[in-house]
Amino acid sequence: MTHYYSEDPDVPLKTKAIEVCLKGYCFKFITASGVFSFGKLDRGTELLVESMILDEGWRVLDLGCGYGAIGIVASRFVDYVIMTDVNRRALNMARKNLKINDVRNAEVKWGSLYEPVSREKFDSIITNPPVHAGKAVLREIVINAPRHLNDGGLLQLVIKTKQGAKYIKALMEDHFTEVRELAKGSGYRVYAGIA
Ligand SMILES: C[S@@+](CC[C@H](N)C(=O)[O-])C[C@H]1O[C@@H](n2cnc3c(N)ncnc32)[C@H](O)[C@@H]1O
Repeated sequence: MTHYYSEDPDVPLKTKAIEVCLKGYCFKFITASGVFSFGKLDRGTELLVESMILDEGWRVLDLGCGYGAIGIVASRFVDYVIMTDVNRRALNMARKNLKINDVRNAEVKWGSLYEPVSREKFDSIITNPPVHAGKAVLREIVINAPRHLNDGGLLQLVIKTKQGAKYIKALMEDHFTEVRELAKGSGYRVYAGIA
């Protein structure tokens, strides 16, 4: 059985276009079977996107980009975005979505966790993390974030209140100078850890 986080999903490819307005802009996204949140924008992603902190000079990493909603919205507000995922079908959709939303200040890279950006630093890492991939993956994302952030940079993530929020917040408190709750709602929390 393959999951939305498989490298090459073996479910037949179906696509569905959606239109969403976020942070004052409207976007068209092609979503796909075998890619997280087929046919819709995930509620957690929506909460994260609406509450994420961005600044115009920033370089941002969208880790686990799926079809690309977070990175594509962020690209309207920052200097440059790198979007990564292990799922090749997700990256194909993200690439298409960059084109159809006329985004020129972002790129997609294939690979696991921080591997595709091993020598790079960002002003913010933003993620709706792959909770179903397991706690070890979540832990890797959090504990390795500071070494990919500039001083004062932010790890911004969304997590289900009943599926790991306590664990993630405590882990962030151990590895960041300060942790703030940016938003809560629909059973999710958005946290920002300041490096
Ligand atoms: C919860 S989904 C979020 C997708 C997208 N950011 C969104 O909000 O719609 C998590 C994403 O992480 C990807 N993923 C899973 N394991 C990963 C890993 N080890 N490295 C990078 N991405 C991974 C999955 O393929 C999936 O696209």
